[in-house]
Amino acid sequence: RPAGDVRIVEVGPRDGLQNEKNTISLSTKLELIDKLSRTGLHNIEAGAFVSPKWVPQMANSAEILEHILDSPLITRGNAYSFLVPNVKGLENLLAVSDANKGSKTSSSTGKYNYPTPPPSPEGTAPITSTQDPNEMPSGSTAQGEALALPIEVSVFAAATETFSRKNINCTIEESLDRFRPIMALAKTRNIRVRAYISVALGCPYEGPDVSASKVAELAATLFEMGADEISVADTTGMGTAPRTKELLRTLSASGIQNQDLAVHFHDTYGQALVNTVVALEHGIRVFDSSVAGLGGCPFSKGATGNVATEDLLHCLHSLGAKTGVDVEKVAEIGAWISDELGRPNESRAGKAILAR
Ligand code: HMG
Ligand code: MG
Repeated sequence: RPAGDVRIVEVGPRDGLQNEKNTISLSTKLELIDKLSRTGLHNIEAGAFVSPKWVPQMANSAEILEHILDSPLITRGNAYSFLVPNVKGLENLLAVSDANKGSKTSSSTGKYNYPTPPPSPEGTAPITSTQDPNEMPSGSTAQGEALALPIEVSVFAAATETFSRKNINCTIEESLDRFRPIMALAKTRNIRVRAYISVALGCPYEGPDVSASKVAELAATLFEMGADEISVADTTGMGTAPRTKELLRTLSASGIQNQDLAVHFHDTYGQALVNTVVALEHGIRVFDSSVAGLGGCPFSKGATGNVATEDLLHCLHSLGAKTGVDVEKVAEIGAWISDELGRPNESRAGKAILAR
């Protein structure tokens, strides 16, 4: 794994910032990404190539990508990801990366290779590792080839029709039709594709009883299409421990491998860490989180941020999991970005660590 047994996907610069009312300057965003890239967090979701009319806060994602490609960030061994809702989003991203050819992107040290982790059957996977967390990642992508650039894209589907309509203005079926050309184009460029399934444990419009088999069906389709990883998202934070367990069991029962899954818990009801432990025990090893618990989805009213990265790290480390991430550094970043945004720091572990 990139750094120890458990991989954290830091979504603060995207999920964390997309819902902020006041415009956040490009330099603050870049400083946030730069600081996060020095903590041992290897996967950083940096922006979204979505319609600026729908999500104004993500409007400068092209500049963010441009900066990443033309700065030391690219050679630090991290992977940076961007949401793309349609092929136009991916084309816009590729236009930026193609225009940056010949700059630092040609450096081989910037390559980020995904090892293929061993299968982790339910309940039996070890959570400790002997791997040196400071080692550079090595191995291969899901397709067995090195990535051309340490840039990834994420598509995002929803488990309910209403959320799909509200978030991306189309039906679930139409969204899948939009993702096919994204996957095809991404594969030709050797770009890894993550797929989110939003509202997997509760929908702001259709309620908490989202069908687990519908999520499994959608996941199977996304994998068939070429998704390298699926992040199952509790957008509203309505998920509970028993329902998280039921969902993960349903996914396993339908043949989906834990090693291909991530979980993405929002902490609206304070259940994200409980659900994390359930997922860890089930054999999941990739967890999404946001520094200082920033965030929320503009199309999920009342939903708060992701589980705070500091809290997640504190919990995972207490269970013996190796993340390779320096929790103290992340706590400092959490306090800094909360100050910058003029909002309270939502990480309890982060505040406690800094008060020690
Ligand atoms: P639409 O209005 O149906 O699209 O929006 P359209 O194709 O009719 O285009 C409308 C306008 O958008 C046109 O511009 C297009 O050019 C432009 P105009 O002619 O009016 O000037 N456009 C674009 N501009 C930039 N980049 C693009 C793009 N595509 C079209 N890629 C659309 C459909 C999907 C574009 C829109 O609904 C959209 O951008 N939605 C994004 C919503 C979003 O970002 N939500 C938050 C992220 S998802 C999330 O937070 C959940 C997650 O965290 C997991 C979880 O917690 O659940 C991932
Ligand atoms: Mg989210």
